[in-house]
Amino acid sequence: MSRIDSLLHAMTLEEKLGQLNLVTAGQAVTGPVVCGDTTKDIAAGRVAGVFNLWDLEALMRAQRCAVQESRLGVPLLFGLDVLHGFRTIFSIPLAEAGAFDPQLWERTACAAALEAASEGIHLTFAPMLDVSRDPRWGRIAEGPGEDPLVGERFAQAKIRGFQGDDFSRIFPLAATAKHFCAGGAATAGRDYAAVDVSERALHEVYLPPFRAAVEAGCAAVMTAFNNVNGVPMSAQGRLLNGYLRSRLKFDGVIMSDYTAIAELVEHGVAADSIEAAAIALKAGVDMDMVSGVYLAHLPEALARGLVEERDIDVAVARVLQLKKRLGLFDDPYRVARLDDSVKETHCILALEAARRSATLLINRGLLPLSANLRRIAVVGPLADSGADMLGPWSAAGGAENCVTILEGLRRALPYCEIAHHSGVAIEGDDESGIAPAFALAEGADAVVLCLGEAARMSGEAACRASLGLPGKQRQLAERVMSAGAPTVALLSCGRPLAVPWLFKRAQAVVAAWFLGHRAGEAIADILTGRFNPSARLAVTWPCDVGQVPIFYSARSTGRPFDAANFYTSRYLDCSNDPQFPFGHGLSFSRTTLSNLRVDCAELKTSQTTRVRVDVCNESDIATEETIFLFARDRVASVARPLMELKDWKKIALQPQQGATIDFVLCAQAFQFPGENMEPTVEPGGVDIFVGFSADAEKLLSARLRIVSA
Ligand code: BGC
Repeated sequence: MSRIDSLLHAMTLEEKLGQLNLVTAGQAVTGPVVCGDTTKDIAAGRVAGVFNLWDLEALMRAQRCAVQESRLGVPLLFGLDVLHGFRTIFSIPLAEAGAFDPQLWERTACAAALEAASEGIHLTFAPMLDVSRDPRWGRIAEGPGEDPLVGERFAQAKIRGFQGDDFSRIFPLAATAKHFCAGGAATAGRDYAAVDVSERALHEVYLPPFRAAVEAGCAAVMTAFNNVNGVPMSAQGRLLNGYLRSRLKFDGVIMSDYTAIAELVEHGVAADSIEAAAIALKAGVDMDMVSGVYLAHLPEALARGLVEERDIDVAVARVLQLKKRLGLFDDPYRVARLDDSVKETHCILALEAARRSATLLINRGLLPLSANLRRIAVVGPLADSGADMLGPWSAAGGAENCVTILEGLRRALPYCEIAHHSGVAIEGDDESGIAPAFALAEGADAVVLCLGEAARMSGEAACRASLGLPGKQRQLAERVMSAGAPTVALLSCGRPLAVPWLFKRAQAVVAAWFLGHRAGEAIADILTGRFNPSARLAVTWPCDVGQVPIFYSARSTGRPFDAANFYTSRYLDCSNDPQFPFGHGLSFSRTTLSNLRVDCAELKTSQTTRVRVDVCNESDIATEETIFLFARDRVASVARPLMELKDWKKIALQPQQGATIDFVLCAQAFQFPGENMEPTVEPGGVDIFVGFSADAEKLLSARLRIVSA
């Protein structure tokens, strides 16, 4: 008998249910102590794992309690939300997605995993793979942005980074793909709200990153809080047992989100907690995060015949299997060792990730700042706020080590006089600081205006109905810009902000997102030209909240916008165009693309072709470019989007260097869910577009024909 079978055999019902019970340490945020009751539950075998605790001693105390005091000594699993770093905090995922570099995504995940594993953590509730096209939704900050292909590659890279290839790392950090699924399409961009999406949108947009995560071997999947088309995700047997288990053959652990099983009652699909527990287990949820209803109510559900003991056994076996894969049965106290030299490399990596995540949105010749500037005014509430640079979900990353924008600039420009005034708070009505901030700007050669959101305005339960600057920041910005000094605005934020007035007036704007511990240095490096910015937007940037949801891969309409024809798809009071398209991002160099060609103009459905384009850095500044390949299937049984991302490549170019970019494109890349949702590739003409962003007017195009094999 295997160890898992014999354990299962030896377990009482309560001990089995204990292995499905994931509890929070409760005091984690304020103090790393497992509360008394939890200790009692651990000793009684009623707890499978504890999360929100990252003090090694407290973890080991809890583990000793499980191993030495519980009857069967099954070790605990320790989980935490390690999304963009554990101690060393990297850029938030939405910003890092903009580097479009799977190797970077993997390296930061690997660093986070090493740090977390060296402090006793086994499981991260990451990567967050919710594709989202709605910046009102605060959680857009945690994920890969709007595009499913980016989501897929992000999923693969993060899972490799956390777990190692095929769970091969000696101390893997088990990854959890979350939140399954479609939370990014929450009605009106409000967290936890209902999701009504078509089957097509599920298969084309929201599920692919999860499919990629499963293929990459992720250890766990977390169900979303939201319902999808009326059925809460912790009750969605069709997507859990059906899609994940049967279709994708996922055999890892499916866990609920925080109290989501108990919430099935509030959702209106379960009469009481007993039913809620039964429905979730039957739908395929193995572990109950925090609500405790499995432990408390599955015995009654069993007695009523709502579930069978076999259902429970299968779930328990999966949890035990995860503990086994993590090596916990061999060494429950396992902790990775991390040398100081490795920690230093993480600190260097944090700077690299931050530099490569900051997006230069506009530049009217101001950046890089001239070396002759003598006096710079650094103004705004985000200039000297370390904690806000970390962004949401900053795990064990302390704000005290964070380099603020002000500090970064002072370090980078030691001979320049740098005056600072916050002007206004991030939120609030106090305008008394605007006049002194204006006075600073008046006497300055240039102004760095540090605007945006507080870190807590992104992430969970941090949705916004407006996408403007909070508080009195607009008043501050307008007044300061009226001083006439050239101004670069930095937007620290977890989402695109709709501030067209700022883009019109400032000489330069950088999306500074939340770049982590080394934010200030990264920004200073960009402003001074020590680093040539390279990040691109992983999300379309709207100019008005009314355009949301806005994304590049929309479908056509029967009446596409035509300025000469009133009865076409348009707003009366706003352009259809975004402020910046997906993929937008400037650098200090000038790079051109030319000579797009496709090897074979006709492609059988089983074949592959090469698409090539010449790229040339025509400037004297070395650059790192991202080149996107989009496609449009012009005529199909189901209308295809105007553009779909099929691939992208990155290339580093020295000054004046040219190169040829080579894309390998197979006909299968044009597969889509047909009318019956079965994957199909239809013969016909396809447009290939290659360029630096999804700005349709600037893309090179070529054609090819797909023919039946
Ligand atoms: C969030 C999850 C997170 C969990 C545990 C929930 O509120 O939705 O993303 O993993 O808490 O912290």
